Parts: sequence; structure tokens; C-alpha cells
Amino acid sequence: MSGTDPGSVPGITREELEALQVERLRDTLRTAYESVPHYRHAFDAAGVHPDQLSTLQDLARFPFTTKADLRENYPYGMFAVPRERVARVHASSGTTGRPTVVGYTQADLDTWSELMARSIRAAGGRPGDVVHVAYGYGLFTGGLGAHYGAERLGCTVVPVSGGMTERQVQLIVDFGPRVIMVTPSYFLAILDEMDRQGVDPRSTALEVGIFGAEPWTDEMRRAVEARSGLRAVDIYGLSEVMGPGVSQESGETQDGLHVWEDHFLPEVVDPVTLEPVPDGERGELVFTSLTKQAMPVVRYRTRDLTRLLPGTAFPAFRRMEKVTGRTDDMMIVRGVNVFPSQVEEQILAVDGLAPHYLCVLTRPGSLDELTVQVEAASETYDAALAGPLGERLAERIKQRIGVTAAVEVVPPYALERSLGKAKRISDLRRG
Ligand code: DLL
Repeated sequence: MSGTDPGSVPGITREELEALQVERLRDTLRTAYESVPHYRHAFDAAGVHPDQLSTLQDLARFPFTTKADLRENYPYGMFAVPRERVARVHASSGTTGRPTVVGYTQADLDTWSELMARSIRAAGGRPGDVVHVAYGYGLFTGGLGAHYGAERLGCTVVPVSGGMTERQVQLIVDFGPRVIMVTPSYFLAILDEMDRQGVDPRSTALEVGIFGAEPWTDEMRRAVEARSGLRAVDIYGLSEVMGPGVSQESGETQDGLHVWEDHFLPEVVDPVTLEPVPDGERGELVFTSLTKQAMPVVRYRTRDLTRLLPGTAFPAFRRMEKVTGRTDDMMIVRGVNVFPSQVEEQILAVDGLAPHYLCVLTRPGSLDELTVQVEAASETYDAALAGPLGERLAERIKQRIGVTAAVEVVPPYALERSLGKAKRISDLRRG
């Protein structure tokens, strides 16, 4: 598909892409049915057979796959190839119970590297760049996914992983990376450490930040860009579908993420009725893999909320709007649905607050209460301002989101920093 130029986006038309998708989808359904007992049972129970798929729309008749299905088949039950052909596994820990295990053949790892090379290039990375990878290495897909993609593109990779923030800054200064790949929340911690060391991010070689693995708002993008001078570009993915590089925002247009649809077929469904909704309407994102060998996934429910839009920078490939929430992160405060990203937007609109925050849910009586803990910005910190700043944020949350929240403004650096995905909700409700 990619020719000889690593990471180039295939120059195909929408029609050609859809024809390719039907062909690959048929193969995927057949393999899943023939090689994975879970899919055979699920398809049989739904009364569908892979031979019944002749158009992309026919996919809607096939059953969904959920994280629970993956857990029930722990560790290797979802593999479609003998375990000996699996070259690598990754796993996501999840909050409770068994981790979700995913596997890759050598060909899957090649595809992943190619799609990550494509993603880095779409974001603005170039062969020859120095790329600082601060996503965690290990069972999490972020570090190794970014690593192999950057190598494939022909970059010089600095495999730092997350943590040891002081050293992150030193390596950025000494090694001169043009690209950094890291969660947006951990990048903020790195910027804070630069402040502490008196390093101006604009004096470094950094030009492009490829940020993902957690929701972050356009307001956060503007704040990070203003503070660091680099271009902040969104990358999306999930281990069950591959890892990072399922979709990627173009660094030129910065207008949502192009789904690499030659390898993943996206659908958006109504989270309640589970019926597919037309492009342009919001709902839960669902993916079917089109080329995966070791662990094909059919209609995997991501729980991420977004909508599909036509392609721009890469016209054949549809975009997904920035994911700003997951169904599991929705807080219901006195009947009003609230996502942490909405709180983030309001925090970034108040001068004097820093986007380090935690939404704490309690139930002191019979009703849920939301307390937003947020740090004061270090440059302007004055303990006497905590009260008025908190009132200002509480007022905005009331007006713009429609819920009453208590706000606690805490001193700079008072909240725990994550080295990877930030924790935005602390649920202290009982019963
Ligand atoms: O987070 C893969 C990844 C690594 C993506 C590095 C991007 C960069 P998981 O640990 O399986 O995989 O978590 C997947 O993280 O379902 C989303 O809820 C969330 N997520 C990932 N990227 C974004 C993003 C990796 N750009 C889950 N915006 C997904 C919002 C994101 N949420």
C-alpha cells in the first residue's frame, strides 16, 4: 500500500478505499468466524454469517465486541493464530480485574510501524528528525508504538519513556529533538519542570508535539502552543484496535483526526440504542479491524464519544472529531451530564488557574456533589487570590455547564502529576 516511501498516505479515491474496505472486511469476518471461538458463537447467536456481507452497511447486522468479551477470553482466547505466531503482546491494565491482552504477528507489527510512521509524518515529523518518546514503554502501547513508527519513518529515536522529569528536560536541551511524543498532561509537567530549571521551551529545537492517549481540549491545545511555541497535534488509538496511530490529526490543518481507514473501519453508534448514526452525528465510536492477523476485532465498542466528518488534508479518509469524553467518564451531577473536558475548558478560560485539575465526586447526603480541585498558576501565585479565583470558576461552571460545583483552588504543584494518562476523576461516593 505504501510503496517505498515510509509513512506516505496512499493516494486513493474514496471509491477505491471503500472497495478495499469491503474486500478486507469480508476476509476479517471470515477469519474471525473460522479461527476465534468467541466470534463463531457470537455470530451464530446473532444468526449472521460472514458470507452475508456484501456491502459495508451489512456490517450493522454483526454483533459488537466489548472489553468484557476480551476479559472473558483472557489471556489468549481472542487470538486468531496459534500463539507461536504471535510476535508480541501488549496489555492494558484497566481499573478492575484482569488486564486486556492483545497480540500482534510480525506482519501486524509491520503494519503498526507503517501507520505510526504515517501518523508522525502527517503530524509534521520528517525523516531525519530527532524524536523524543516520553510515552511509557512496556505493556502500554504508547512507547513502543511511537518508537517503531519513528524508526520506520527514518527518525533518530530517543526512547526516554515516562518519568524522571528533570532528566526529560535535560535530554530535550542536549539532544535537540524536533518532535516530542507524550501525553498532553505529562507534557505540561515537563513544561513546569522547564520553568523550574529556567529553560525557555522556545529556545529548544522542539517544533511538533504529538499528544494523545487521553482526552484534551482545543483550549488546552491553545494554552500549550502559546506556552511552548510548538505545534500541538492530536493522535488517537487504543490497544484493542492496535495502539496509537488508529487516527491522526494533520499538523497543517489541526482539524480532527483522519482515521486510517484502509486498516480500520469506523462506525459511530447511538450509545443507548446501539444503532449506527449517520456521519456528522455524535455517538460512540466502534471499530472493525481490516488487516489484523493475530487479533482481529469486529465492531469493538471503544466507549469514546465523537463524530465522523469528511476528510480534509487526506480527502479519501474520514476524520473523527477530537474525542473529549468517554461514556465511562461521564459524571452525572444532579441530573446533568458532565465530562472532565468541559471542566477543563472552563479552567483554561480563567486567568490565574493552571490546567492541573481533579474532579472529586462525593455523596454526602442523597445527592452527588462535584468538587473541582484546581491549581493556581505558578507565575501569578498569591494565596489571597484562591478564594476569588475559585468563585470565578464556580460561576463559569454554573453558567456554561449548568451544574453547581464547589471549587478548591490549591497551590501550584499541589496535585499529583501523572507520568502518563492523567487521572481526572476521583469517585468517593459510597453505595
Ligand atoms: O492510549 C494508545 C495511545 C498511546 C494513543 C499513545 C495515543 C498515544 P489505551 O491505553 O488502550 O491505548 O487507551 C485507549 O485512551 O479508548 C481513549 O479513551 C483514550 N485516548 C487515546 N488517545 C486519545 C486521544 C492508548 N487522542 C483509550 N484523545 C481510548 C482522547 C484518547 N482520548
